[in-house]
Amino acid sequence: MKIQENVSLKAYNTFGIEATAPYFVEVHSTEELQQILQQWEGGQPFILGGGSNILLAGELCGLVIKNSIKEKAITSREGNKAWVSAGGGENWHEFVCWCLEHELGGVENLSLIPGTAGAAPIQNIGAYGRELSEVFHMLEAVELETGALHSFGKEACRFGYRDSIFKRELKGRYCITRVSLELRTAHHHLNTSYGAIRQTLAERGISAPTIHDVSRAVVAIRSGKLPNPSVLGNSGSFFKNPELPRRQFEELQQQHKDMPFYPLDNGCIKVPAGWLVEQTGWKGRRIGDAGCYEKQALVLVNHGQASGRDIYELAQRIQDDVEEKFGIRLEMEVNVI
Ligand code: EPU
Repeated sequence: MKIQENVSLKAYNTFGIEATAPYFVEVHSTEELQQILQQWEGGQPFILGGGSNILLAGELCGLVIKNSIKEKAITSREGNKAWVSAGGGENWHEFVCWCLEHELGGVENLSLIPGTAGAAPIQNIGAYGRELSEVFHMLEAVELETGALHSFGKEACRFGYRDSIFKRELKGRYCITRVSLELRTAHHHLNTSYGAIRQTLAERGISAPTIHDVSRAVVAIRSGKLPNPSVLGNSGSFFKNPELPRRQFEELQQQHKDMPFYPLDNGCIKVPAGWLVEQTGWKGRRIGDAGCYEKQALVLVNHGQASGRDIYELAQRIQDDVEEKFGIRLEMEVNVI
């Protein structure tokens, strides 16, 4: 464990953006992390997970710590339930596969999401009708200022749609070292309500799906729609789907009868940002090497040599055009550094 100087982060962010960390260190345990925090005196470090939800658009100063804390364990079992834990630096999809190998259900819809287990609670990852918060038990995190280890239960994390306390009040203040989930060992609660999952299972002639079938369907859907970051740099959905008050939605719907929408429990209506962006004509277009993906307008991509600034400027142009056409300012889902 040695602090290195002037390290390129190109391989550490899925956008494949060139950026330099003045100081860089990789930690493999909570103790190593605490040691580094004790010896480092140059201000609050920046924690890097899988680099799959960040856009490196500005200058990094100080220390970048790559969280490579790994461990996977079944910590207890009771009835049809099992509690599992993953080190913050575990690759999320490998962890999902490991759960499936152990016949543990609850995360199958979250297959193939890029990133690490430690980053998963920060934005409360979600896909195809499931969110991390539904299986979340607790997490442990080290406070960067003091080096103290704290536990956070589900309430304390204040999960929301692609949101948690770690994106708000506690942004940048903790490194998540361990995540614990409550999964099922039998009588799985499958969620196959999402149209694309139902369709894929039907095409495959599967009427009584297992957790493995659902995972395989999700992998197939994601691979068909979302670009593989190792082939085309991206960080998944760049914007959040906006949630509109009913009045605003109804006014918009009068002008755009074909706008897809999803009513929410809180009375608001969610509309797909991908659709809004597509209507502005940005889908498949690019400015230099910064582009809007041709198969899913919500995903911005780096065609090769785009800088973080290039992607950010494209995102702003898209935000402006969506706002002009629909009166909605899209919120970026990706963390802009
Ligand atoms: N749509 C378009 N044009 C597009 C893209 C989407 O018209 O270019 C419309 C279609 O009507 C489609 C609807 O938007 O039916 C929804 O699209 P999709 O099923 O692809 O889902 P999404 O709302 O665009 C969200 C998540 C994804 C997640 C999928 C599946 C957000 C910000 N994104 O996308 O999450 O995989 O649902 O659950 O909530 C991520 O967060 O990085 C991510 C990939």
